[in-house]
Amino acid sequence: MTPRNINRNLGCGIAAGAVLLLAQSAAMAQNNGSVQGVVNDAYGQPVAGAMVKLKHELRRLTFMVVSREQGRFEAKDLPPGQYSLQAIGGNMQSPWFDAVHVAAGGGTAKAILALNYHRGPDLPAAWPQRIPEEQVRLVSVDPKDLPEGEGKTLVAEKCASCHDLRRVVVKRSNRDHWAHTTARMRTRMTTANIPDLTDAEYNTIVDYLVEKFPEVQPYDANSRLPRTLLSGKAASYRAVTYELVNTHAEPHDVAADPQGNARQQHGAASRWHHLGDRRRQGSAPALPGEGGVQVL
Ligand code: HEC
Repeated sequence: MTPRNINRNLGCGIAAGAVLLLAQSAAMAQNNGSVQGVVNDAYGQPVAGAMVKLKHELRRLTFMVVSREQGRFEAKDLPPGQYSLQAIGGNMQSPWFDAVHVAAGGGTAKAILALNYHRGPDLPAAWPQRIPEEQVRLVSVDPKDLPEGEGKTLVAEKCASCHDLRRVVVKRSNRDHWAHTTARMRTRMTTANIPDLTDAEYNTIVDYLVEKFPEVQPYDANSRLPRTLLSGKAASYRAVTYELVNTHAEPHDVAADPQGNARQQHGAASRWHHLGDRRRQGSAPALPGEGGVQVL
């Protein structure tokens, strides 16, 4: 395996649970169909260089292609099933259009998308569920500066022994994620022979974190897509997003081989994924196989 055979995508800032990668084997492509269509602006004029997302909910896959001359786009080699489509071009986007069916055994579905809505503002550079990067450096990690409230003393005592409080105070999450992180820290305490939290302490800490460090802004999956229409080589890309089943994973590096085996790094460990059948295995050694994975 040589470096040129692996394309790594540093996905800082992509949604937790979404990884970008592309790999499809010839075997998988046999029964696949396609979707053709046109992207228009709000006045009905065709738009070339717009991005078109085709989302297959069941398979958790979103394919993205780019519109060409006369606003035409074509997404080939799509697994059969129900798709929702959205176009994004310049500062505009279309609503999701969700009645596109790709028949088993091939066939071509058609769709027309209109860029009728303004896109949301760019989100600041930040890891998912974290405050913006530029604020991360400025936070105080002094336990005295933790927000007042029941739980402050516990967090100061229990959460600053292995790492400082930066990891805690830069995070903004909902109860589900805070509970999961804190439960994971308990297993780390056990492994490190540090006394575990009692269940009461655990509950107090989670309540405190949820109240003091709640989720900030809703994630906009289109926020970091280009604001200019694509042209030249950029218009030839086809990207595939696979939405991870584990919503607590925080993927950052992704590598894939042509058989659809992808390895993804996240906060807690590396994982294998297979794009075809979503088979999963635990932590794994080096990536197998070599070859020309398409770059995003
Ligand atoms: C026994 C050592 C240890 C203690 C004690 C500990 N942590 Fe951690 N923490 C880690 C390690 C190791 C990581 C990085 C790996 C990971 O994310 O699991 C981490 C990562 C984190 C992260 C970033 C990852 C994420 O899920 O957001 C947060 C937040 C965090 N810890 C919060 C806490 C809180 C809150 C407490 C107190 C209840 C705590 N930690 C106590 C070892 C510890």
